Amino acid sequence: MSNNFTKVENPVLVVEGKQADNERLKAESDYLRGTIKEDLQDRMTGGFTSDNFQLIRTHGMYQQDDRDIRAERQKQKLEPLHNVMLRARLPGGIINPTQWLAIDKFADDYTSYGSIRLTTRQTFQFHGVLKPDIKLMHQTLNSVGLDSIATAGDVNRNVLCTSNPVESALHQEAYEWATKISEHLLPKTRAYAEIWLDEEKVETTEADEIEPILGSNYLPRKFKTTVVIPPNNDIDVHANDLNFVAISEGGELIGFNVLVGGGLAMTHGDKGTYPRCADDFGFIAKEHTLAIAAAVVTVQRDWGNRVNRKNAKTKYTLDRVGVDTFKAEVEKRAGVKFSESRSYKFTHRGDSFGWVEGIDGKHHLTLFIENGRILDFAGKTLKTGMLEIAKIHQGDFRLTANQNLIVAGVAQADKAVIEQLARDHGLINDGVSNQRKSSMACVAFPTCPLAMAEAERYLPGLVDDVEAILTKNGLKDESIILRVTGCPNGCGRAMLAEIGLIGKGPGKYNMYLGSDLAGSRVPKLYKENLDEAAVLSEIDALSARWSAERLEAEAFGDFVIRVGIVEQVIVSFRDFHHA
Ligand code: HEM
Ligand code: SF4
Repeated sequence: MSNNFTKVENPVLVVEGKQADNERLKAESDYLRGTIKEDLQDRMTGGFTSDNFQLIRTHGMYQQDDRDIRAERQKQKLEPLHNVMLRARLPGGIINPTQWLAIDKFADDYTSYGSIRLTTRQTFQFHGVLKPDIKLMHQTLNSVGLDSIATAGDVNRNVLCTSNPVESALHQEAYEWATKISEHLLPKTRAYAEIWLDEEKVETTEADEIEPILGSNYLPRKFKTTVVIPPNNDIDVHANDLNFVAISEGGELIGFNVLVGGGLAMTHGDKGTYPRCADDFGFIAKEHTLAIAAAVVTVQRDWGNRVNRKNAKTKYTLDRVGVDTFKAEVEKRAGVKFSESRSYKFTHRGDSFGWVEGIDGKHHLTLFIENGRILDFAGKTLKTGMLEIAKIHQGDFRLTANQNLIVAGVAQADKAVIEQLARDHGLINDGVSNQRKSSMACVAFPTCPLAMAEAERYLPGLVDDVEAILTKNGLKDESIILRVTGCPNGCGRAMLAEIGLIGKGPGKYNMYLGSDLAGSRVPKLYKENLDEAAVLSEIDALSARWSAERLEAEAFGDFVIRVGIVEQVIVSFRDFHHA
């Protein structure tokens, strides 16, 4: 794990220069209102115009269009078929059956894909909602106690919490902290309530401090927070800016080790951008959690780079000012000193599928959802199955950061009927291989405007082929953490995979090798611009060597480093080489 405390001589705390345009638009937005309300009435276009295109992100939406039909519409001289993707705020990924029924119906009635997409940050997305239906969408969510505030844009986003299917006091308390952190760091502006829920505008005076934590210009870039319960690093701490690692004594939560500055996004060919592991700042007692969270956010708010958005995330601030300077400022602002980190160990990141019994005598069923896509497929009516379960389920549902779903809190008497429904609708399939369960992809085409190559649509077939290769090489029940993203932004966390495939262009991927099972290592570029056939032949050759030469139970990512197929990247991320 990286703990490379850096000291930078004469650090530049605030980057001077012409501010990025996003800074202007946040400043002029009247606390995230812009002219979204007026734009909504404009039926000349299906999209949002000027600054509103960006501002709606802070309300949890991205403007998109279906890229499969973009060229055809252009030929017909039509504007792209604009719509929005919505991402809900769901701290810790917990959603109850009433809420599920509401989102299921909305997906049917108002989204062009008819699906609910579970994400790698423990929430769900709707894709393809048209402008006239957006307000209804927010009102539907609000009617069941949900919202999408600050799930995108330059703010603290959905707060994750390890999905522990075994109900325990520790998990309950960790989840409550995730919720409290989410509330504490949320924008205080009433823009969301005014625009989407038709609430009255309350007049404020200059003296009112509207955003005491985020400030009037909000953060320099997106910010991601987690609460994680070792030994499971399912939320991937090194993909996030701020992480609270739960430390317990005798089953009681006593506090957190705080890890700051993880992040995965980079730009192909731009060596000033790189994935970076988070640094361990030390231990704090649990009562200081909110003060520390606010201090880390405000230091990043004040010192983050507002000139160049490509270097604006916390990971770059830490490298510019030095980790010890950043940490000392956090201590000063919070009035809390970090003490020495307590020991803990991450051993894995995957979900455990099937039933487990919690200490409360309730039962919890983890379901594997390929790509997190809840939709009725031929012979696999996942969405209907979930609907039928939600109609009778008395507990709640938990979304995992691996795009899977837990039916939690089932009484013994209801177990059989829930299991039968899950089996009838293909939500339980005993034939799913370990390799498939260890594979993940981001959304990419057709909705993501940034996708350079396929990811979600490529993954199922790719896994078929990898399964055949592993079987041929004597590795039938083994698995490799395999993740595919359509571009180097990192939404499917490929930069923490044992094999990461990152889209370079249509049908072309860069292959990165060498993360570990616990997710404490960033993989290294192995080969560039591989087409699908080359991806398979590389996996064939590499897995054949792994099968023949590995040490007892040696994981693939550890093997490729030990035998020198790639070097280990741990210390200097500035020297991270990529294409
Ligand atoms: C500069 C960096 C990034 C940009 C510009 C970006 C942009 C986007 C966009 C446009 C989408 C929508 C795709 C769709 O649903 O159609 C998306 C999805 C998503 N992104 Fe990112 N992203 C970035 C980095 C990351 C990173 C580092 C993570 C997490 C570690 C992340 C997590 C997600 C998640 C959870 C989704 C939802 C779909 C999924 O589960 O794959 N993003 N992102
Ligand atoms: S990794 Fe790239 S292609 Fe995939 S969802 Fe994120 S931005 Fe889109």
